[in-house]
Order: sequence, then structure tokens, then C-alpha cells
Amino acid sequence: EKGTADDNLSKIAGKNILISLGGTFEEIDPIRGISNRSSGRMGFELARVFAEKGAEVSLITGPTQQIIEHSNVIRYDVKNAAQMYDKTVECFENCDIAILSAAVADYTPKSTFDTKLKKKTDNLVVELVPTKDILAELGRRKKENQILVGFALETDNELENAKEKLTRKKLDCIVLNSLNDQGAGFNVPTNKVTILDAKGNIYNSDLKSKYEVALDISEKILNL
Ligand code: CTP
Repeated sequence: EKGTADDNLSKIAGKNILISLGGTFEEIDPIRGISNRSSGRMGFELARVFAEKGAEVSLITGPTQQIIEHSNVIRYDVKNAAQMYDKTVECFENCDIAILSAAVADYTPKSTFDTKLKKKTDNLVVELVPTKDILAELGRRKKENQILVGFALETDNELENAKEKLTRKKLDCIVLNSLNDQGAGFNVPTNKVTILDAKGNIYNSDLKSKYEVALDISEKILNL
């Protein structure tokens, strides 16, 4: 550990932090779409922690029930992966640290219907096309003084896959969410993570509140 919590507090004041969070919603017709189980809670707690430390936080969020009120937070609401891509790439230009915790859809319907799809008796096929990988794009654009943090959620070969993502997407740090632990993951107030950085450090958190996990994550990032 290089810095203490107090050293880190002075490092962070006035810095621009970008945080993406929540799941995206990929429209099929005006009523339906494809989404995922991300609540955005972990991202909101991260925003709270960084705002309380005096950083200027730009929050880019998919559809969510969460609210945050802090004068250091500017919130941008987006719906789908394409909108999240545009806003995140735009905000990255002037940010010091980007933390992408959003659960972005990897696929989106090739075309959307303008009117509600009516039920028929035969099968319905919705063709999906890949979305753009926002994190990988930021990795390509990253300047030397910028820090890029990704999230990973794996069901198998967790550590190996997370390390591979860290390298391939040119990240400084990756936060691995474990689905194998009770009390961690979607829509629960607690979480347990493993944090890996590009220098090879690995940190395992205990099971604790998402706010406390956010504090851990912020300390690890600031030590970079
Ligand atoms: N991510 C992103 N843009 C996407 C998909 C994912 O920026 N279109 C980001 C997420 O915000 C997260 C990280 O990539 O920080 C990990 O997402 P994940 O879905 O686990 O990674 P993939 O590269 O999609 O790998 P795979 O699906 O093979 O596990």
C-alpha cells in the first residue's frame, strides 16, 4: 500500500471522474426490449464515495430506479448501448479516471419495430447484432495520465478471464464481481469483489455493504 486514506483524499479533490452504471435497454418495439439484471447500485455507491471525497463526478446511467443527490455529481441518463457509447466516449475526453461498471448489452436487435409487434402462431426470430465495446474503445483512446477501470462478471475461470480482459482492453484495474458468493451480485445491498491491477496486485474484499466495497475500490484506484 503506497498511500494512506488521507493522502488519497487530497489527490482526488477536483478530479473529473466518469462512472457508467446500470444495464442498457435494447428496444425491440415501443413496448419491449432486451435488458439485464443490473440495478446500478454498485455504480451509485462509487459515485457517492468519489463525490464525498471532493471529485467532480459524471454519471452515465442506463434506466434505473436509483437516485443520487450530490452537488458534485452530474447525471446523464441514456437508454441503449449506442447512446451509452456516445456519451461515455464524449465524457472520457476530459476525465482523469473512468470507471465503467455498466452492464452494457453485447447485442442489440438489428432493427426495431415502429409499432407494437402483434402475436402470431409461428415462431418469432429477432436478429441481434453486436454492439460496440465501450471499454475497449476507451482503452484505445486512453492518454498517459488517464486511469481506466473495468468491471467483469464471470461464471467460470474467473481470475483468468479477468486478467485477460485487463490486458486486452488496456485497463489499469479491473473489479471482478463474484456470483459464486451468497449476498454478492445483483439487487442485493452487499457485495464481494476481487480487484486486480495492471501491476499484478490482487485484493479480495470480504462480503460487505456496497458502500464499503466502493470505498475499497476507490482506495485501490487512488493507489494507482
Ligand atoms: N463493456 C463495455 N461495452 C460493451 C460491453 C461491455 O464497455 N459493449 C464493459 C463493461 O462496462 C465492463 C466490461 O466491459 O466494464 C466487462 O464486460 P463483459 O461483458 O464482462 O466483457 P466482454 O468484453 O463483453 O466479455 P465476455 O462477454 O466475453 O465476457
